[in-house]
Amino acid sequence: MTEHSFPISILVTGASGQLGSELKDLSKSFPDFKFIFAGKQELSIINKDAIQKFFDTHKIDFCINCAAYTAVDKAESEKEKAYLINDTAVGHLAAICSSHKTKLIHISTDYVYDGSEKQPLKESDKKGPLNVYGESKLMGEKSALSKNPETLIIRTSWVYSYYGHNFVKTMIRLLKEKKELNVVNDQIGSPTNAADLAFVIMQIIKMHLEGKKINGILNYSNTGETSWFQFAQFIKEQTGSQCEIHPVTTAQYATPATRPEYSVLDTTLIKSLTGIKIPFWKDSASACIHRLIKD
Ligand SMILES: NC(=O)c1ccc[n+]([C@@H]2O[C@H](COP(=O)([O-])OP(=O)(O)OC[C@H]3O[C@@H](n4cnc5c(N)ncnc54)[C@H](OP(=O)(O)O)[C@@H]3O)[C@@H](O)[C@H]2O)c1
Repeated sequence: MTEHSFPISILVTGASGQLGSELKDLSKSFPDFKFIFAGKQELSIINKDAIQKFFDTHKIDFCINCAAYTAVDKAESEKEKAYLINDTAVGHLAAICSSHKTKLIHISTDYVYDGSEKQPLKESDKKGPLNVYGESKLMGEKSALSKNPETLIIRTSWVYSYYGHNFVKTMIRLLKEKKELNVVNDQIGSPTNAADLAFVIMQIIKMHLEGKKINGILNYSNTGETSWFQFAQFIKEQTGSQCEIHPVTTAQYATPATRPEYSVLDTTLIKSLTGIKIPFWKDSASACIHRLIKD
């Protein structure tokens, strides 16, 4: 049984990004739900008054917060902006969701971990962000849960999609343009197709409506692990590019933000709570790559 009145309405903030766009595609499979997709132009999460007014004038049962400051390197020089979007605004949004009895589903990152572990990271494992982006996201998790303990936070990693800007799209372009490329081989993680993440979010919403509520933090990525170099090699194989890719170390490839060496997420908890079968990263990546090269 549910305490919600129909139709169930779902607000997606940051709707023009990768995850927001995948949710928009997936929403076509849920004709009984009323989706409201709001990009930054329509509803900026840093505008507390606008968010308050929006919730006062619309019935929102679920809010999926896809809005984030995601420019990992730029965040090092735009600290205030990163904290404002990824922490302060998330805290306000969580409080407003709490006062309107809206279930908040917020997305966080593998970059909350310090990368020193060598086995898949559980939700409760030690945190220790190495960069401003990761720190701002960790603070956002804490703000959301303190303002609204019923928030569900899903940490994910290495997100790509048919939409937006991401490693897969950049590699497809560079593999076409260049004869040689250097790609980092000593950072290990699990790529995540945003379409798969969108799918699990909708499963969780369906479960919630059936009375199976999940709060707190869950880790989600596609299964398996890889390095950026191996990921690039896989994209090369799939596209048939002749470009030569050289593995390099993080030390040889300086970036403003430090990244964790190892950030593979342990997805045991989300699998046991939802019963979903998570696709292997190569299967999901292959589907996205072939869709992209067909265009
Ligand atoms: N991308 C990854 O590899 C990755 C990895 C782990 C976790 N995550 C997390 O996954 C979630 C979804 O990420 P994504 O890959 O879909 O990111 P994305 O493609 O960068 O989308 C984020 C969206 O949020 C928008 N936005 C920025 N400031 C906003 C504001 N003040 N109000 C409303 N919208 C705002 C952005 O608009 P503009 O582009 O116009 O600024 C963008 O459309 C985020 O929480 C992210 O931290 C991502």
